Amino acid sequence: MKSLIPSARTAVGIVGAGPAGLLLSRLLRQSGVDCVVLEARDRAYVEQRQRAGVLEQSTVDVLRACGAGERLDREGLAHDGVELSWNRHRHRIDFPGLTGGKRVWVYAQTEVVKDLIELQLADAAPLLFEAPVGAVTGADTERPTIHYTYAGEQRELECDYVVGCDGYHGVTRQAIPDSELHTSERVYPYSWFGILADVAPSNDELVYAHSPRGFALLSMRSHTVSRLYLQVPNGTDPEAWSDERIWDELDARFAVDGAWKLARGPITQRAVLPLRSSVTEPMRWGRAFLAGDAAHIVPPTGAKGLNLAVADVTVLARAFAKLYADGDASGLDGYSDACLRRVWRAEQFSYFMTTTLHVDPAQSGFDTRLQLSQLDRIAASGHAAAELAENYVGDAL
Ligand code: APR
Ligand code: PHB
Repeated sequence: MKSLIPSARTAVGIVGAGPAGLLLSRLLRQSGVDCVVLEARDRAYVEQRQRAGVLEQSTVDVLRACGAGERLDREGLAHDGVELSWNRHRHRIDFPGLTGGKRVWVYAQTEVVKDLIELQLADAAPLLFEAPVGAVTGADTERPTIHYTYAGEQRELECDYVVGCDGYHGVTRQAIPDSELHTSERVYPYSWFGILADVAPSNDELVYAHSPRGFALLSMRSHTVSRLYLQVPNGTDPEAWSDERIWDELDARFAVDGAWKLARGPITQRAVLPLRSSVTEPMRWGRAFLAGDAAHIVPPTGAKGLNLAVADVTVLARAFAKLYADGDASGLDGYSDACLRRVWRAEQFSYFMTTTLHVDPAQSGFDTRLQLSQLDRIAASGHAAAELAENYVGDAL
């Protein structure tokens, strides 16, 4: 039987099997670049971790091109707009009309991850679960090394390059001296209370709602499963809320004049997540690279987290392909700058969406009137609406 344990040497060592690590390994494999993925958690945990669910056109294009688009094309929901809600009315943002034909897809990150894992395992690609990485050493040498544990044994993987796709709390960034990295960060004075409910979505498109009681978002996972979020104070215990209280609060925040009603159903999952903006730069030092959440976090209001992770590893995979095919390192040298341009645009948009739609507990009546004026402006001006739409659907890769 072929051993699961990869050899002790590879070209690109990847830490973390979230969407970033999994997609990077898929893309490298397609270019014939040898790589190994090491993931701390087990497969079931990685496949069930609830995250966002909006894919930009460029993300869908990359997934299709690498063979991970089949179920997405069958089960993903194409969306041609979102609605904004404030002052008890709604305004639709028409994506194709405002962006020259672009749209987005609703397809959960859990499903993207399942599809990528299945592809990799079918391909016998080296992907180890329950293999926590303790440290990465030698990032400034020719032979960076990943130190990990598997089946109770300490192991080492020698690499040409190491890519940290290990999320916000990852260890790869510790391979880079603090003095070489700069982190810009902002935390918000509120969190999201997210639920999954077995009920058909009450609207065909996502609804982002500003209300005096705080922000709410109506999203979906399928024609029969709704995904909903409420702004709540930091530190809120999700178990302290009854189902009825959750639905009553959602009702109050989505309320509009007219006959529309929010349908209720059994709540199958609940969690509270804090909101944060963070960028670590540069995204490369020596032979260590950072990608996805390991390098940057956005608050989820703009639905950018997964799309940024996909963009990073797409740029990086092209750069590695160029290096290993032609000995041309220019793509690797340009990686950090190329990604950070997109990252900061997404940071600005996510900040804008977050601060325009949430109620800061410290905000004044004046601040609220500015938010409402901004929303009125988006409804009144094609330019303002197009600015939002262009950011939401994202740029080509
Ligand atoms: N050793 C091995 N694996 C690790 C380690 C470690 N020391 N530390 C973290 N990991 C793994 C985590 O268990 C996780 O599976 O790295 C993976 C990181 O995955 P994500 O957090 O999903 O990050 P990323 O792949 O960059 O995806 C970004 O996820 O957080 C969302 O909004 C974000 O949608 C975006 C996407
Ligand atoms: C989701 O469906 O989980 C979702 C959708 C849009 C967002 C954030 C999360 O902006």
